[in-house]
Amino acid sequence: MQQEADKQPERPRHVAVIMDGNGRWATRLGRPRLAGHRAGVKAARAIVENCANAGVEVLTLFAFSSENWQRPSDEVNGLMRLFVEVLQREVAALHENEIRLRFIGDRASLPTILQKRMARAESLTAGNQRMTLIVAIAYGGRWDIEQAVRRVAAKVAAGEISPQAIDAAVLERHMALAGVPDPDLLIRTGNESRISNFLLWNLAYTEIYFCPTLWPDFGSAELQAALAFYARRARRFGRVAEPLGMLAD
Ligand code: IPE
Ligand code: IPE
Ligand code: MG
Repeated sequence: MQQEADKQPERPRHVAVIMDGNGRWATRLGRPRLAGHRAGVKAARAIVENCANAGVEVLTLFAFSSENWQRPSDEVNGLMRLFVEVLQREVAALHENEIRLRFIGDRASLPTILQKRMARAESLTAGNQRMTLIVAIAYGGRWDIEQAVRRVAAKVAAGEISPQAIDAAVLERHMALAGVPDPDLLIRTGNESRISNFLLWNLAYTEIYFCPTLWPDFGSAELQAALAFYARRARRFGRVAEPLGMLAD
């Protein structure tokens, strides 16, 4: 999406989060990794509530990557069961709070029961306007670009688009986040400074906040620190700085 370089919003419209550190959190307490994922669900619930209250329009949470399939089957199966259970338990409350739920990722790779719950949650909450919560499951940034290119190529083959007409705007319309403004702020917890194949296309000009907190410990104070970090940024989108010392350090 096009950004406006001349405005410096204090508050991000779209916040994306790589919720990392559940396993280490559990291991430190001598508990199984799945206990960390369960604790991670609580932190996710809290950030949804806090972002909705802070006026964030879109919150995108990275819950399971296309590479996470390579984890031991016990952990993968436990996570899939947890997703089904959490959807069962949380969707009504999200709906009551006027939150729209959307999912991005390779759905066909997920258990059928989960696919059904996801579709049901999306249609139930489709009309909600307070905040959109996008959960990335079986998502990878490279997968996203692949599927967009595949769909554009099919349109070229069908004679609907000419190859010369393919540009960033055409690709953008076929990406998983089509129609959603790019993330303004990306938060990654768990003390790692990498993107881990999250939204490669959409993070082009996103402000990135890396924080050492393990995801289950990420609460309202940590979110406030991330939002304060964002408010201090001066976004230039490749242009020159605004006059009169508008730039942060
Ligand atoms: C993130 O926590 C959640 C998922 C990837 C599902 P991790 O499970 O990666 O936790 P660490 O990084 O091993 O501590
Ligand atoms: C990124 O965390 C994926 C999610 C949080 C869902 P990982 O734990 O999978 O990333 P790496 O392996 O440390 O890069
Ligand atoms: Mg991790």
